Amino acid sequence: MDKHLLLPLVILSSLLGFLQALQCFHCDRVNASGVCVSGERFCETTGSQQCFVKKVYRDGIISYGYQGCSSLCVDMMFLNFNVNLDWKCCHHASLCNKF
Ligand SMILES: *[C@@H]1O[C@H](CO)[C@@H](O)[C@H](O)[C@H]1NC(C)=O
Repeated sequence: MDKHLLLPLVILSSLLGFLQALQCFHCDRVNASGVCVSGERFCETTGSQQCFVKKVYRDGIISYGYQGCSSLCVDMMFLNFNVNLDWKCCHHASLCNKF
């Protein structure tokens, strides 16, 4: 193959890789020990969705969390009185949203 075509092909395939569906952990409620107590399954991303994991802290102590697939993905720490929300997204690998 012409080596001038190789680089564009590598770039294209990594872009397509980003659009590939990922498997993510899904859980409606993860308890403070990191055990999924409700709605445990896997979800698959579509389009620009990513895997996410949200952890809710109360007075600096982990209280509960969620995991799943979402297209709304803003890494952030939201502070509201004594409650912090740690919201992380990832798309580098399937099942990257471990609690
Ligand atoms: C989380 O759930 C597991 C399994 O039901 C239980 O053993 C554990 O004690 C729970 N942790 C908390 C902090 O409630």
